Amino acid sequence: MADADYRAPVGTHDVLPGESARWIALVEAFATRAARFGYGLVITPVVEHVEVFQRVGAATDVVRKEMYELTDRGGRTLALRPEGTAPVVRAYVQHHPTPPWKTWYLAPNFRYERPQKGRYRQHWQLGAEVLGVDDPDVDVEVIALAHGFYRDLGLRQVTLTVNSMGTPDDRAAFVGRLRAYLLERGTALGPEFRDRAERHPLRVLDAKQPAWQDVLDAAPQLTEHLSPASRHHFERVQAGLDAIGIGYELNPRLVRGFDYYTSTTFEFASGALDAAQNAVGGGGRYDQLAEDMGGPPTPGIGFGIGIERVLIACDAEHVLPAGPATLDAFVVDGIGDSSATALVAELREAGLAADRAYGGRSVKAQWKLADRSGARYGVMLGPREATRDCVAVKDLAAGTQVEVPRPQVAGWLVVRRDTIPEGP
Ligand code: HAM
Repeated sequence: MADADYRAPVGTHDVLPGESARWIALVEAFATRAARFGYGLVITPVVEHVEVFQRVGAATDVVRKEMYELTDRGGRTLALRPEGTAPVVRAYVQHHPTPPWKTWYLAPNFRYERPQKGRYRQHWQLGAEVLGVDDPDVDVEVIALAHGFYRDLGLRQVTLTVNSMGTPDDRAAFVGRLRAYLLERGTALGPEFRDRAERHPLRVLDAKQPAWQDVLDAAPQLTEHLSPASRHHFERVQAGLDAIGIGYELNPRLVRGFDYYTSTTFEFASGALDAAQNAVGGGGRYDQLAEDMGGPPTPGIGFGIGIERVLIACDAEHVLPAGPATLDAFVVDGIGDSSATALVAELREAGLAADRAYGGRSVKAQWKLADRSGARYGVMLGPREATRDCVAVKDLAAGTQVEVPRPQVAGWLVVRRDTIPEGP
């Protein structure tokens, strides 16, 4: 039998306490903003019937090559979610909530990619989806939600790029025109170029190969072939972004990785990350997807934000530092009966973050742990103080100590926790 491998699978990772405090901060920031925008949390299964994702794009790498498919014991073919939009649309079609249906989510996604920094086989996304409205003001709202989230975190180097894919008809007509152009002009560029131009001409547009760039630079642009309705929608989106002061760049060669996109598409990139993995979020409209999944015609728009990438961007911009959980008090037990247990319980019930040592350590060792815990106060239950029904409370940063009556200590700590220290 081969040696058992008890490590996390390649391309996956554990998030441990310390680092996970940043995840809490990130999710709280997103949840707060989503609630302010009127979005409700939606939780869908990690596995779906494989056909749910077939609509995402049978021609895309994510579905063709990277999906984790499995057969369950009942013989059903399921897939681990490679992305978050199709499950939300599936839930919409299944439960027919009243539109507009404004949702957000936090979920892991699975893609069998070659792992590297910022690219994993399991990554987490925070996302939002709005179903049932094609008003361009919703496009602006969705973009503003993501944009504000990056700003809340303190990220300053995130830029927004927008494009329009037009209606499915615009897109289909353009794809035909683009394919013909690429095949005619790219004969000298080799079999890979020809193969990709044949299979997925849109994806060739954002290819990075230097030798291809001359042909791509001169390629026809979808935004020049939009129907009047698509053009009007796209102009309204730009006007809305201008009205609320969100800066953006237009890039007609922005092509997102799924087949379901129509109309507005966008991507957020971080200038603090390596160019290859600098997308910290992206999304767009998918006005056909609900219908493709057997639902009523229902426009939709949303985005996904990669949590791990956002955290790498935070590191690069020195915002949202990792740190130990903050404790209000660390109880030092100099008595040895159950009084420390009672005091810690009382502090916690009073809403304070309190901890203690275990295993009958010496008072000296406990003070060391108190210092290391990062707590603001050490609270000592000592035999001398106990005779006066008091505890010794030490400000661990300043080193100063006072005596507080035992019955008042929780209240005393709460007041100090809630008092904003005076500035210098
Ligand atoms: P996506 O562009 O594939 O879009 O992923 C969204 C974000 O997830 C990316 O911008 C990136 O930050 C992160 N991400 C993607 N793949 C990986 C990976 N392998 N490792 C680490 N991070 C990754 C979607 O998934 C669409 N569902 C977005 C959407 C929502 N469109 C409309 N609504």
